[in-house]
Amino acid sequence: MADTLTELPSEVEAVVRPRAMRVVADRRGSMVWDAESPHGRVAVKVGYAVDGKRGYTALAPAREASVLRALGRPHIAYGTWERGTFSVQPWYDGVALWPLWEYRRKGPQAPIDYETAAQCAEALNRLHSDGWVHGDMQPAHLIADGGIVHLIDLAFAHGGSVNSRYDFPYPGCLVHYEAPEISRAVLATGTATPSPAADVYALGASLLISATGIRPMEYPDHAEREEQRQAVVDNKRRPFDLPGSFGVMVDRMLSYEPYDRPALSEVVAEFRAATKGEPKGKAPTGADPAASPPGRPVGVDPRGGGRG
Ligand SMILES: Nc1ncnc2c1ncn2[C@@H]1O[C@H](COP(=O)(O)OP(=O)(O)O)[C@@H](O)[C@H]1O
Ligand SMILES: [Mg+2]
Repeated sequence: MADTLTELPSEVEAVVRPRAMRVVADRRGSMVWDAESPHGRVAVKVGYAVDGKRGYTALAPAREASVLRALGRPHIAYGTWERGTFSVQPWYDGVALWPLWEYRRKGPQAPIDYETAAQCAEALNRLHSDGWVHGDMQPAHLIADGGIVHLIDLAFAHGGSVNSRYDFPYPGCLVHYEAPEISRAVLATGTATPSPAADVYALGASLLISATGIRPMEYPDHAEREEQRQAVVDNKRRPFDLPGSFGVMVDRMLSYEPYDRPALSEVVAEFRAATKGEPKGKAPTGADPAASPPGRPVGVDPRGGGRG
């Protein structure tokens, strides 16, 4: 069977009835559209199997939708199609953390955007308070949208009950954002138990990578996932230079041992304090990063290495 998808499957088209649409992500096993439906703007995700190893890609859209339903989110639709599952959810019209912080990667002297950093930690804290962990935190999954950050892609979330027809074992996440205990378990068993502390590590890695372009651990750019995971387990931490409480917090969030990582309430309090107290906490002069259009990312590929 073909390894790609070229158009919206007819089963999905019948549900969405798009007036207009564009492809926003096209990866092996998953395709996402931004579509104008009779009910408003929606994200349409279509999953299909690519190989025996990553069979979960076919199930991921429906699994995510069942998580969103369990969280009580409105306007969620999902179902199956010939080669897998699909989901429909409201579109968040914001800017992801990676393009938002391009100004900081281009100008390492530029101020830290403490406001957005606080909003990211608040968003994750809300999810944890609802009894769920995300399991796949990365800069592309943090959407800043006028004073609030939305967490997207809950396909790997754990906590409440998930429709068992679409469930699959947690496969780990993009290794750049994967906590050492997760990497160790995935290497040993092929799966792991995602946790709030692993989400804190992944958020720390997301903040570090978005602000500097540097990933937490040292491994070659094109290393196989196993080699990347081994470098994480071996704690091959790279040095980084980040100012003020942002640098201190990110360093603590990236602690090797889960119990050494700070609680999100503490992270939020530190970043919120910095927005009030420190002159560095302001957005760059003359350019509100939240208002500038998403530019083409520079530096490392924040998705490098794939997940699973
Ligand atoms: N609800 C949404 N609102 C806005 N953008 C979205 C939404 N869902 C997905 N996207 C966009 O589509 C991309 C891929 O979606 P994602 O859920 O991460 O699927 P996958 O990881 O399978 O590609 C995201 O990085 C984001 O740009
Ligand atoms: Mg994703």
